[in-house]
Amino acid sequence: MKKSAYPVALSAFAACAASLVGWQVYAEPNRVQVPNLDALVHYTTVRRGNVMEHIMTTPAAMDAVKNGQPIPTGTHFVLVDHRDGELYRYFVMQKGEGFGADYDEGRRTGDWQFQWFWPDKSINMDENTARCQSCHSGQQDSDYLYTAYRIPHFDGTPVE
Ligand code: HEC
Repeated sequence: MKKSAYPVALSAFAACAASLVGWQVYAEPNRVQVPNLDALVHYTTVRRGNVMEHIMTTPAAMDAVKNGQPIPTGTHFVLVDHRDGELYRYFVMQKGEGFGADYDEGRRTGDWQFQWFWPDKSINMDENTARCQSCHSGQQDSDYLYTAYRIPHFDGTPVE
């Protein structure tokens, strides 16, 4: 009878170890890189309390959205996050050929990968970018983007 306790304890340990390993893997750098921000168009600003987000992407991606075309491979979307008027961090989404295949189906967000960069462009190693994907997966119908619907309203001044 005593023996039955062992497999239970072992499986609890295995589950715990697996989740720890998963966490470390997720916090590693992925294929996302910070693009040249000067080549992007700041199309919308989101304000919330002391937070101000400048959201930007490439002219080609903006044309695609306006024309109802798929967003091109190689596109970056960047959310430049300010707190109390100071640059706080960059949230970057990058769409790349085969980027989705780096993740299993449950986690995959098309061919987009996500990353959090500090103002010096180093990666926040404490972030689990599966969290980014999990939330953005709710936007699957608009290519995993929350603010793309604002792009057609952009007339040179960031949409608010
Ligand atoms: C809890 C949900 C949630 C999580 C987690 C999340 N996001 Fe977002 N993201 C949003 C929302 C909502 C917006 C639209 C802007 C806003 O309302 O602040 C957004 C906007 C963006 C944008 C601008 C493009 C767009 O979709 O409009 C980027 C880039 C982005 N997020 C990257 C990231 C990254 C990188 C992470 C993880 C480090 C992340 N997000 C985690 C909800 C989330």
